[in-house]
Amino acid sequence: MNPKNSISQIKRLLGRKYSDPEVQRDLASFPFRVTEGPDGFPLVHVRYLGEERTFTSTQLLAMVLSNLKGIAEGNLNAAVVDCCIGIPVYFTDLQRRAVLDAATIAGLQPLRLFHETTATALAYGIYKTDLPENDQLNVAFVDVGHASMQVSVVGYKKGQLKMLSHTYDQSLGGRDFDEALFKHFAAKFKEEYKIDVYQNARACIRLRVACEKLKKVLSANPEAPLNIECLMDEKDVRGFIKREEFEQISASVLERVKGPLEKALAEAGLTTENVHFVEVVGSGSRVPAIIKIITDFFGKEPRRTMNASECVARGCALQCAILSPTFKVREFQVNDGFPFSIALSWNGDSQNTPQQTLVFPKGNAIPSTKVLTFFKSSTFEVDVLYVDPNGLQIPQKISTYTIGPFQTSKGEKAKLKVKVRLNIHGTVTVDSAIVNAGG
Ligand SMILES: Nc1ncnc2c1ncn2[C@@H]1O[C@H](COP(=O)(O)OP(=O)(O)OP(=O)(O)O)[C@@H](O)[C@H]1O
Ligand SMILES: [Mg+2]
Repeated sequence: MNPKNSISQIKRLLGRKYSDPEVQRDLASFPFRVTEGPDGFPLVHVRYLGEERTFTSTQLLAMVLSNLKGIAEGNLNAAVVDCCIGIPVYFTDLQRRAVLDAATIAGLQPLRLFHETTATALAYGIYKTDLPENDQLNVAFVDVGHASMQVSVVGYKKGQLKMLSHTYDQSLGGRDFDEALFKHFAAKFKEEYKIDVYQNARACIRLRVACEKLKKVLSANPEAPLNIECLMDEKDVRGFIKREEFEQISASVLERVKGPLEKALAEAGLTTENVHFVEVVGSGSRVPAIIKIITDFFGKEPRRTMNASECVARGCALQCAILSPTFKVREFQVNDGFPFSIALSWNGDSQNTPQQTLVFPKGNAIPSTKVLTFFKSSTFEVDVLYVDPNGLQIPQKISTYTIGPFQTSKGEKAKLKVKVRLNIHGTVTVDSAIVNAGG
C-alpha cells in the first residue's frame, strides 16, 4: 500500500479552485497531499521518479489519458490520436477546458467531449431495432457512481435520440455510503477498542477499504461482518452490521436520491406514466435501498440492460466512430442538450448600465451558434456568464472578450455582428465580431 502516492478521484479536483468548499470537503478524506498553487488551483504532491514533485490535476489527467492511449495503441497496433472523452454532464466550462488541455498534453485530439449520460443513451439506443417510427419511446437513465449521481430522460425514435433532460447531484454516490459506514465503525471502535483511527492515516485507509467491501456484501446479503487484523495499536477489530442498520445510518444520503429524479422528470415535461423504461447504470446503484427509491418513484422496476461499467466507454467509442471519417457506423442521430443557461452581458451606453441577454438556454442543442447585433461607437467588453450557477459552487463569469477597436464614421455607431458558439465539447466562445458596413 502506498497511499500518499496513489492518486485517485482526479475528476473531483479538475478545474476547481483549492478554496472550493467541495474540494475542501474531499481533501479531508484523500490520503495524498494537496496544497494551493499560486493560481489558486490544487497542486498534488507525490514522489515521482525519486523526487518530491507537484502536479496539477490537468497534468495528472494527462498521465492517465496518455496511459490509456498507450493501451489502445498496443491493442490496435496503430497510433491513436482521435478520441471521444466521456465527462459528467455537470462539468463546467473550466472543467471541460481542463479535460481538453489534458488530452492535448497526452497527444490526443478529442473529436468530442461527450456527456456520460448521452454516451449511455447512445450505447443503449443505437442497436435497438424496435425503436418507433413516430411515437417517442421515453427512457430514464439513472447513473449512481462513486462520487456523483446523474439522471437523464431520453426520447428515442427510429435512428435518433433526443436528450430531454439531464440532472445531477455532483456529490452523491457510493462513497457517501462508505463514509457513513466508516464513521459508524470509527466511533464503535473508539468505544470498544479505545483506538482513534482518525489519528492514523493507514488505519483510516484500511477501514475505508473494509467499509466499501462491507457495503458491497450488504447489497447481496441482509447482514455482514467486518474483521480487520492489526488495525491500530496492534489490535484486531471485529464488527457486524445488518442491512437495516446500514440504511438507517445512511438515511441522509438516501434522502437525496429522489431530488434529481423529480427534477429530471419535470424538466423533460413528463409524468412517470410517460416514461416507458427505467435503466440503472453505475455500480453505486447496486445498493438495494437506492433501487427501492427508484422503483417507488417511477412505479416500475428499473432494468439493468447495460453493462454498468462499460456503457459510457461504449457510447464514447460509438460517438467517436460516428464522427470519424475512417469508420462506417449505422445512421443514428444524437441530439444532445446543454445542461446550463448561458448569457452574454455588457455595459450599456451610459457605461454603468449592465445589459444581459440569454444566449443559450438550458437544454439548448449542442453544438449551436448564435449571432448578436450590437450598435457601438468604441471598443467594448462582453462577459460570458452562467445565468444560474446555483447548485454549482462556481463564479458566475466564464470569460471576458474585448471587442474592438473598429472604425466608425463620424460619431456614428457601428453595427457589429458578434458570433457566439456553444461548441461540440460544451464550451462557450465568442468566435468573431464583424463590422457591418451597411450599419
Ligand atoms: N455490489 C455493489 N454494491 C454496492 N455498491 C457497489 C457495488 N459494486 C460497486 N459498488 C460501488 O459503486 C461505486 C463505483 O461505481 P462506478 O464505477 O459506476 O463509479 P464511477 O463511474 O467511477 O464514479 P462517478 O460516476 O461518480 O465518477 C463505488 O462506490 C463502489 O463501491
Ligand atoms: Mg460514472
